[in-house]
Amino acid sequence: MTPDPLADAVAEAIGVAHVLREPAELPGYETDWTRRFHGKARFVARPGDTGECAAVLRLCAEAGAAIVPQGGNTGLVGGSVPRGGEVVLSTLRTQQLGAVDVIAGQVTADAGVTLEQLQTHVRTAGFDFGVDLAARGSATVGGMVATNAGGTRVLRYGSMREQVLGLQAVLADGSVISRLSGVAKDNSGYDLPALLAGSEGTLAAITRVRLRLIPLYGARATVLLGLAGTRAALDVAAALRRRCPSLESLEVFYREGLALVCHHAGIQPPFAASHGAYLVAECAGQRDPSEELLAALADCPGIEDSAFAVDRGRRSALWAYRERHTEAINAAGVPVKLDVAVPLAQVVQFESEVRLLLAEEAPAARPVLFGHLAEGNFHVNLLGLAEDGEERVTGLVLGLVAQLGGSISSEHGIGIAKPAWLSLTRVPADIAAMQAIKRALDPAGLMNPGVIFPK
Ligand code: FAD
Ligand code: MLT
Ligand code: ZN
Repeated sequence: MTPDPLADAVAEAIGVAHVLREPAELPGYETDWTRRFHGKARFVARPGDTGECAAVLRLCAEAGAAIVPQGGNTGLVGGSVPRGGEVVLSTLRTQQLGAVDVIAGQVTADAGVTLEQLQTHVRTAGFDFGVDLAARGSATVGGMVATNAGGTRVLRYGSMREQVLGLQAVLADGSVISRLSGVAKDNSGYDLPALLAGSEGTLAAITRVRLRLIPLYGARATVLLGLAGTRAALDVAAALRRRCPSLESLEVFYREGLALVCHHAGIQPPFAASHGAYLVAECAGQRDPSEELLAALADCPGIEDSAFAVDRGRRSALWAYRERHTEAINAAGVPVKLDVAVPLAQVVQFESEVRLLLAEEAPAARPVLFGHLAEGNFHVNLLGLAEDGEERVTGLVLGLVAQLGGSISSEHGIGIAKPAWLSLTRVPADIAAMQAIKRALDPAGLMNPGVIFPK
C-alpha cells in the first residue's frame, strides 16, 4: 500500500474500513458499466452519512485532491469512474430510507439507495415512484438525480428533476446545503436542487433527496406492436397520446436489437414475421386500462402484429424485448453509445438518415437503435466501430442531430464522452454561463474534472 497522508486523514474521519486502498479492492470502482471507460483511483472513500461526506470533501479540498462521486456506476458516459488519480467518493454506504409521508406523498432517501429499494419501500405504503429504468437494481437515487435520469415513464411523470422536491448536498469546500422540508412551494431564491439535477457530480455531492411520489396503480395493460416502420410507430404513438390518459410508456426498437436480445436471452421473437419497427406501449390506472388502450389501437391503421398482456408475468415477458437491449448489446462487445433526441417532427427523417450515414461512413459497424419514442430519444449504439473511427463517426451523428434541432445528450449526460461536442447545441454565452456557475461553486475545479466541460 502506497503511503498517502490524505487517505490516512480520511480513514481517521470515516473509519479505516471505509477507505479502500488495496489494488485488489479498486477495479469495480475504476471501470464503467460498458467497460469503455476506465482509469486509476487514488483511493475510494465510502462515507456513511452527510457529515462524513462533508469531512471527506473538506479534507480533499485542503489537499487539492479531485473527486469523482460514484453511486451504482451504471452511468453510460464515463462520468462515474476516475480518469487518473482522483478520489472516488462512493455513496453506497448511505442507505437510509425515511418513512413515507402519506399525507404529502413524499419520502426522503439517502443518495446510495437503489431505485429498486426505493420502489419496494414506497410500494408497501401504497405509493410508487415516477421514474423507472432497467438499471433499477444498481442505479442509485443520488446518481439518478446527478444525471437527471429519464427512463420509460417520462411521458407521464417527467425525468428525475421533476421528482425532486429538495435535497441535501456537500459542496466542494465541505459545506452543506440542505432543503429537505418537503414544502411543495418554495420560491426563496434560486432553485439549487433543480440545478444539481443533471450536474453530473461537477457541482456537489448529493447525499439525501426529498422525492415526490405517485399513486401505486393496481392495473396495467401492455402491448407490443409490430409495425412497418418508424412512421407507423409515430402515428400509433400520437393516437395513444391523444386517446389514453393512462398512457405511461412508448418505447421503440428495431429488428437488429430484437435479434440481439433473443440471442442473448435465449428467447423466441414475439412474432413469426419480422417488422420494420416495434413499439411497446403501457397504460396504468386504478381500474383496468385495457379497454381504453384496445379501443385506441382499433382505430390505428398499419399495425401488422400485436401481443397484449395484463398479468405481471406476461407483461414482463413483453418488456424484456425492450429492456434487455442494453445488456444484450454489452454482451456482444464494447459499444459506442450515443444518446440523442430530435423533435418528434424530425424522428422519421433522423432514423433513416442516421442509418444511411452509418452505412456510408462506418460500414463495418453494427448500429443498434432503440429508445423512448415519446421524447424522440434514440439510443444509437455502435458495435464493432474501429477505435480510430469513434470520434469522427460520433461527430457526424451528433452533427446530424444538431442540424435537426435535437439534443446531443437526451438523458445520460455529457460525462467524459461528449464534452468535445457540447458546442454543437450550446452557444458560447450558454457555455460561459454554465462555466461561471461551476467556478462559483467549485473554484478549484475539484468536482469531477473533465466532465461536461473539456479540461
Ligand atoms: P453513477 O453511474 O455512479 O454516476 C453517474 C454520474 O452521476 C457520474 O457523473 C457521477 O459522478 C454522478 N453521481 C453519482 N452519484 C452522485 C452523487 N451522490 N452526487 C453527485 N454526483 C453523483 N439512464 C436513463 O436516463 N434512462 C434509462 O432508461 C437508463 N437505462 C439504463 C439501463 C441500463 C441497463 C444501464 C446499465 C444504464 C441505464 N441508464 C439509464 C443509465 C444510468 O442507469 C443512469 O444514468 C443512472 O441515473 C446512474 O445512476 P448511478 O447511481 O449508477 O450513477
Ligand atoms: C435505456 O433506455 O434502456 C437506456 O437509456 C440504456 C441504454 O441506452 O443502453
Ligand atoms: Zn434510455
